[in-house]
Amino acid sequence: MSFRIVVTGKIPNAGLDLLRNAGFSPIAWNNDQPMTRSELLNAVVSADALITLITEKVDEELLVAAGSQLRAVCNVAVGFNNIDISACTARGVRVTNTPGVLTDATADIAMALILMVTRRLGEGERVIRSEDAWQWGMHYMLGAGIQKRQLGIIGMGAIGAATARRAKAFGMSVAYSSRRDVTGEIDRGLDAKHLSLDDLLLTSDIVSIHCPSNESTHHLIGAEQLRKMKKSAFLINTARGPIVDEQALVEALEAGEIAGAGLDVFEFEPKVNFGLLNRQNVVLIPHLGSATAETRAAMATLAASNAIAIANNQHPITPVN
Ligand code: DGY
Repeated sequence: MSFRIVVTGKIPNAGLDLLRNAGFSPIAWNNDQPMTRSELLNAVVSADALITLITEKVDEELLVAAGSQLRAVCNVAVGFNNIDISACTARGVRVTNTPGVLTDATADIAMALILMVTRRLGEGERVIRSEDAWQWGMHYMLGAGIQKRQLGIIGMGAIGAATARRAKAFGMSVAYSSRRDVTGEIDRGLDAKHLSLDDLLLTSDIVSIHCPSNESTHHLIGAEQLRKMKKSAFLINTARGPIVDEQALVEALEAGEIAGAGLDVFEFEPKVNFGLLNRQNVVLIPHLGSATAETRAAMATLAASNAIAIANNQHPITPVN
């Protein structure tokens, strides 16, 4: 088929097979390392559709390099802060993402970070690996229990709600702050309270971020917001790094303004603020939210299905613009 699909990062075969079985001949990057910017700008030339990863910045420069025939950018991620949506829309380029298929995997990681940071699991593992002497003791390495504690969810979308369901099963109560009150739309069993962001920060024992990253959520959690949190509270971020002012977080941790943090994402990913690295009360993992084989295959398949739909002049399954 003459519709040229360029896959700018290495994706699971399930996505490529789907494209091939639908009669396309995708041109696919086959290296775990992302392309350099100049490789990327060369690769996109004359593409009709791009299948992109979050490591690729899709901006005006890239759209110009691709050319005016470009019809679609299908991101293999639910988040799309790597894409300039207005620039795509202005050029009539459809953007799609992959919501739904990574909800459980990401909520699992949020819950894992909650348990890790409150029960000091990273710290405990470091003790064992250090081979230093240790001894069970009544007062040894006590953590904070989460039962009857309040989980405050920022951004009650699918992943926020899935995290809330997990927390509920662990005996937590749930509050959330969202641009709109979605209490009627989410699981009634969650019994979740809709609060302003300030009230959520003031009253929650664990604050977990699940909102999209965009101009309005950039540094949504900064020095002022961290000061509002309880000194005994923990911050969890599995959404996007720039939602948290990372330097302000380091300072809040240093000043004992919050008890700890569990982070899957970083403001300047893949760089991690040096001030986080040597803190025992911080759990740091390398953006693993959707990192299961099944989930990544489902993400690639959904992105490929979106590209195929657009190539066939049909509505994409999960459009962004
Ligand atoms: C997403 O889908 O936005 C994830 O962060 C990528 O793993």
